[in-house]
Amino acid sequence: MAYSIPFDEQALLGVASDHGTPTYVYSESEIKRRCSMLTGLFPIDLPVQWLYAMKANDNPHLLELIANAGFGFDTVSSEEMHLGLMFQPDPKNIFYTENNMTDAEMDDAAAMGVVLNIGSISRLRKYVASYPGTCVSVRIKPDIGDGHHSKVVTGNKDSKFGIRIDAIEEALSVASHSHVKITGIHVHIGSGIKEPENLFSAMRKLLTISRQFPDLRHINFGGGLPIPYKAGETEFDLNELRDLAEPLLRQEIEYRNGALSFLFEPGRFVTAQSGVLLTTVTSVKDQGPRTYLGCDTGFNHLLRPVLYEAWHEVINVSRYHERAQNVYTIAGNICESGDLLAENRELPITHEGDVLALADAGAYGMVMASEYNRRRLPAEVLVCFDGTTKQIRKRDLIKDVLERHLKNCNYPV
Ligand code: LLP
Repeated sequence: MAYSIPFDEQALLGVASDHGTPTYVYSESEIKRRCSMLTGLFPIDLPVQWLYAMKANDNPHLLELIANAGFGFDTVSSEEMHLGLMFQPDPKNIFYTENNMTDAEMDDAAAMGVVLNIGSISRLRKYVASYPGTCVSVRIKPDIGDGHHSKVVTGNKDSKFGIRIDAIEEALSVASHSHVKITGIHVHIGSGIKEPENLFSAMRKLLTISRQFPDLRHINFGGGLPIPYKAGETEFDLNELRDLAEPLLRQEIEYRNGALSFLFEPGRFVTAQSGVLLTTVTSVKDQGPRTYLGCDTGFNHLLRPVLYEAWHEVINVSRYHERAQNVYTIAGNICESGDLLAENRELPITHEGDVLALADAGAYGMVMASEYNRRRLPAEVLVCFDGTTKQIRKRDLIKDVLERHLKNCNYPV
């Protein structure tokens, strides 16, 4: 059976012929469905708020959809914060989790009134000196990390992120000297968590730590909810998360006499499976040990396989109903031998001109794309609730790319 994606093959072939390739395609109904799975998870009397980690995919059309589905935003730069504020005008629904932030970025965040989540004692010192008498949140390093690859594990002992547990007393004293209240605490142990037990342990640990903070108003458990990328892998069990968390959260609310809320900030879980990257096969090349399918995209457009050895299922959309008969390696068009998007995949006999879909590319796909080799970025298309398609990012013309390049380099044209 073909790997499941939220599109029918005719719709994808229609997008490829109407908009060309390479093109990211997203499903509006799949994003909405994923949002509802999360917002409907906990009983409504439990104050749980969902933030979308917009670093996963910040196409404005998707941000609008996700904000309308009841999400705030987790942001990690001034740029993301300002983009988020366009779709979520109440700054209290925007978290800014800083990481080596500049003074200018701090002042910007403070001026906008977003929830500033500070990840180091030195930044906290600068914050309280500039903004005495205010409220702030802090990110704690729980010494528990997890993630689909070592590059995206963040909560481990030697991680650059967060305030050490043994520095919490210092953080509290730095804050209280300037009458700053620490009203929020946060952990994020990593992305694409492999062992749910690590997430649960970090949650328990944060709840224990929380008792050290007298003025707490919210506890943020971060993101990292995984998705299955390979055929046969199972979905993360949201009900297990709920069943474990609910009694703990109720206990904390009681302890604080009701004045407490909880946050989660997933990115990948919301958008990854809603998107595919469509590409056209430009060459079929027998190189002896391997047969390569050369494509009109590469790691400049989907970096994950090269950066993290990440697996994306490949579907030959043009031969959707044919059975797999050959083994192929899918190669990109970037001038590097490492530009392989998928290796040794069984596919139907594939021909030049066939359209392939790289599955589960809706998160950390387009946002990590670059113009390396000076190639244009992919277009983006949304398949709307009613089945119609809408281009939500145009493909540049070569002339646009070159003009912008020369202009930004102050080269006279
Ligand atoms: N919160 C914070 C503070 C984060 O740093 C991240 C992700 C998230 C939430 C959302 O994590 P998610 O729910 O999406 O796993 N480029 C990598 C992922 C890097 C994630 C960085 N931080 C990838 O393609 O797998």
